[in-house]
Amino acid sequence: MTEEIVVIPGDGIGKEVIPEAKRVVESVIDVTFIEADAGDAVKEETGTALPQETYDLAASADATLFGAAGETAADVILPLRDAVGSFVNIRPAKAYPGVDALRPETDLVFLRENTEGVYSGHEDRLSDDLSTLTRVVTTSASEALAAFACDYVSGEEHDGFTIAHKANVMRETDGRFRDAVVSVAKENDVPVDEVLMDAFATRVCLDPTQFDVIVCPNLAGDVLSDLAAGLVGGLGLLPSANVGTDRALFEPVHGTAPDIAGNGIANPTATILSAAMMLEYLGYETESNAVNDAVEAVLSDGPRTGDLGGNATTTEMTDAIINHL
Ligand code: NAI
Ligand code: MG
Repeated sequence: MTEEIVVIPGDGIGKEVIPEAKRVVESVIDVTFIEADAGDAVKEETGTALPQETYDLAASADATLFGAAGETAADVILPLRDAVGSFVNIRPAKAYPGVDALRPETDLVFLRENTEGVYSGHEDRLSDDLSTLTRVVTTSASEALAAFACDYVSGEEHDGFTIAHKANVMRETDGRFRDAVVSVAKENDVPVDEVLMDAFATRVCLDPTQFDVIVCPNLAGDVLSDLAAGLVGGLGLLPSANVGTDRALFEPVHGTAPDIAGNGIANPTATILSAAMMLEYLGYETESNAVNDAVEAVLSDGPRTGDLGGNATTTEMTDAIINHL
């Protein structure tokens, strides 16, 4: 059977790393890619950053691989997450042998709420002096995330999860989030502990081995996972998956990197690891493991791109990964 996968390169280095991830996927499974547009360039041309056709493709495909969008990122990625009905954003942050990391012992997975919190779009300008934002937290979305988290940690690898929140201040919203997640964990006999998200930021820098799987509200997950990227050696390494009930969207955590775009030197790792998450999601576990192993070997032995201290191009690093497969 040929797998059909929608790919949306977007802008900047998205256009450079997505073709490389496609080559890797093509080398391990029988696949047909359906190309779609989104981002700044499409907006310039057509007036909309996310054409209806692209939304519809993501909303009907089993899996979509997305690069990055520039200034229009929020107009692209938030509706795309909605198109796949994603209620959780999975963001592993792992240090690799051979990569210079601030904390080489880091091995974390963030499970970020993906539909609400302060990213639900309820912002208002009430006067020349005053703007407000409504923070949305529902028990149902919190429980859906918690149920996913319980399932995620059910293997031998993990011993429960940690909730990072700020329920001591945002008593109503984060209180609801915390209570819902704790109660689902208890129902499933999953060990759960809690940490205030600001304290988490300090503790994870000092000793990331205190944590394993971290469940958090939307904004906290966005910020804390980028912080973890700093611990493991940069944004070029972090993949992510936006998972819904029936479909999913995979994307590197990084953006369009305008400072290096167009030079063919972007690190393809984050996007290739996102593709590996996609392969696992689609049931190609062996192929997914093979890609992860090949990436790990190349990160360890080179060639590496400039952000990792090497001088390989995006294509040379990908060639090495494919040679390993
Ligand atoms: P960024 O992630 O694009 O870049 C931050 C820094 O990390 C830059 O120095 C960049 O060169 C480096 N970097 C990122 N990915 C890299 C890679 N694969 N290889 C080597 N170096 C890499 O974040 P920034 O600069 O805050 O945003 C740039 C643009 O990207 C903005 O227009 C923003 O809106 C957009 N953006 C889009 C996202 C998305 O589409 N999901 C996510 C984050 C930002
Ligand atoms: Mg972010």
